[in-house]
Amino acid sequence: MKAMLIRHYGGPEVFELGELETPRPGKGEVLVRVHGSSVNPVDASIRAGLLKLFVRLSLPAVLGVDVAGEVVELGEGVTRFSMGDRVFAYTGTGRGGGYGELTALPETFLGRVPPSLSWAEAGTVPGVGATAYEAFTVHAPVKPGMRVFVNGGAGGVGTYAIQIAKALGAEVTATCSQAKAELVRGLGADHTVDYTQADPFATGHDSYDVVLNTVRGPSLDPMRKLLKQGGTLVTVTGNPLEAAEAKVRNLVSSRRTAVFFVQTSGALLDGVGKLIESGKVRPIVEKTYTWDELAEAHRRVETGRVAGKVAVVPP
Ligand SMILES: NC(=O)c1ccc[n+]([C@@H]2O[C@H](COP(=O)([O-])OP(=O)(O)OC[C@H]3O[C@@H](n4cnc5c(N)ncnc54)[C@H](OP(=O)(O)O)[C@@H]3O)[C@@H](O)[C@H]2O)c1
Repeated sequence: MKAMLIRHYGGPEVFELGELETPRPGKGEVLVRVHGSSVNPVDASIRAGLLKLFVRLSLPAVLGVDVAGEVVELGEGVTRFSMGDRVFAYTGTGRGGGYGELTALPETFLGRVPPSLSWAEAGTVPGVGATAYEAFTVHAPVKPGMRVFVNGGAGGVGTYAIQIAKALGAEVTATCSQAKAELVRGLGADHTVDYTQADPFATGHDSYDVVLNTVRGPSLDPMRKLLKQGGTLVTVTGNPLEAAEAKVRNLVSSRRTAVFFVQTSGALLDGVGKLIESGKVRPIVEKTYTWDELAEAHRRVETGRVAGKVAVVPP
């Protein structure tokens, strides 16, 4: 099969079109013909070798933790999927496959792609959609009438977080730059805070039930102050210092901090898919790139300024 390979870690220019042996589905796995993927910040970090200590790749490797495509072969014991099903998955950082023609994935990773989505849109949903959904249904369950603060409302995770929190009945405040305020309000945010003009955590203390942080910063303390007693701060930036800080603060504070890495779970994706089908959530795709533009797509994500997601589609 054809794939955009990396043979060594490095800058966005390391991607090259190459041939790899076609994967075969093992027990409990399906083979997916990939029609859509995206670039997540973690894809860029893996490519650059920044996660070498945690993510063991065998090179040459096919990156792309988001996969959307069609089931073309069933492994032994697969029960939930049939040939031709439209599926999507977050593959986890150790696996990838979104930048190849075919990939074999456990059926437990797979959700069903809502019929209304194009392949380009579908490929942008899994990692960020599942993260926001897991945050607000597992780690800090959002209930009607709650007040939710999203730090980083215009990014991949943030655009889902706003819409999912609204779908769950919350009042939502989100941070973004002025240029993205219209987008963020269009997703349902009741209030926006322009973090480029003033400290976004200086007001609103003791008034939120849930704060979701998607932006790396020196400390979580300013965001924790936004919480009511008993409220929960969820942070997803992957900064290992945050986990240490959370452990210490949780010993002494009634304002809880939760740190997590999103699961490779089809059930989470089916949850997001239902919200998309109901019209309550829509993917925001800034631009679609083809494989020959993959380096450009990675460069764009590395600016940290993407509105929603960038999509990646095969030629
Ligand atoms: N734990 C997990 O399992 C998990 C899963 C997914 C993602 N993540 C991590 O979560 C983080 C966010 O991911 P993402 O995909 O949402 O990133 P992203 O799409 O690249 O985020 C880009 C957005 O961040 C906004 N932004 C940048 N600096 C900001 C600031 N100081 N305040 C508010 N907004 C700011 C930008 O908006 P403006 O242009 O308006 O500044 C831009 O729209 C990354 O570190 C990613 O690795 C973790």
